[in-house]
Amino acid sequence: MRLTSSLILNAVLCAAVPPVPRQQKPPAFFLAGDSTTASNGGWGDAFLTVLEGGATGQNEGRSGATTVSYINGEGVELLQGLVTDNTDDYDCYVTLQFGHNDQASTANITMDQFQSNLQFMSEKITAAGGTPIILTPLTRRTFTNGTLDDSLANVSEASRKAAQAAGVPMLDLNAASKAYVQAIGSSDADTYNLAFGDWTHLNEHGATVFARIVADLVEEWRLAFDGYITPDEELSEKIKEGIYA
Ligand SMILES: *[C@@H]1O[C@H](CO)[C@@H](O)[C@H](O)[C@H]1NC(C)=O
Ligand SMILES: *[C@@H]1O[C@H](CO)[C@@H](O)[C@H](O)[C@H]1NC(C)=O
Ligand SMILES: *[C@@H]1O[C@H](CO)[C@@H](O)[C@H](O)[C@H]1NC(C)=O
Repeated sequence: MRLTSSLILNAVLCAAVPPVPRQQKPPAFFLAGDSTTASNGGWGDAFLTVLEGGATGQNEGRSGATTVSYINGEGVELLQGLVTDNTDDYDCYVTLQFGHNDQASTANITMDQFQSNLQFMSEKITAAGGTPIILTPLTRRTFTNGTLDDSLANVSEASRKAAQAAGVPMLDLNAASKAYVQAIGSSDADTYNLAFGDWTHLNEHGATVFARIVADLVEEWRLAFDGYITPDEELSEKIKEGIYA
């Protein structure tokens, strides 16, 4: 009787012992997208500056890019190369944020094509050993009668569908950035414009704020990034409260 119960106890204890954890690698973030991610106008460079604790990254945003031009311009091969070159030392994540240029009528890209292009990119990144993260596009900051224009609704919807179909994580940057911009209003939002009347691209101040929105979404998605993203609680709190920062 004693023997039996102690055997049972042993079995229970053994089962409860967690496996030896794999040494955790720091994350690497490779940022793919259009000019709203790219250097000089996007949030990408500012996001890279908040990485710490051995985390790294590279901004591969391309001004004017659609999913079609990015794929045709060997962007996927580039991302795959970055993942395979870094996967020994890092957990590799690739953010995909497109839509601003894809939705222009001159691009001649249907929403179905846009969605399948995002799925294609996701599959290639996964095959290379990376984790794709689809971001819905950063909001523009144009208002009509005090209400923020919802001008990226179709590409945001297609981005969500692509993430769901590909079974990859989706961070709703469009919703988060819209909520913040609507809350602060148009005249404060104008202070983030890269140039007068440019309600799409970001100056350095804007890049800092919207990179923090991305960082907060990333951390909410995966709390394990704690220690790899430098916190700025004051800025995060203001964004959450919809107070101009
Ligand atoms: C748009 O794309 C479709 C399908 O790819 C093609 O048949 C059509 O010629 C294109 N239109 C223009 C104006 O480029
Ligand atoms: C904005 O306000 C003007 C003036 O009140 C009005 O004529 C117009 O229809 C409004 N536009 C929208 C989209 O609500
Ligand atoms: C997507 O929405 C925008 C803004 O409403 C519109 O201008 C564009 O024509 C739409 N594109 C497609 C392909 O549906």
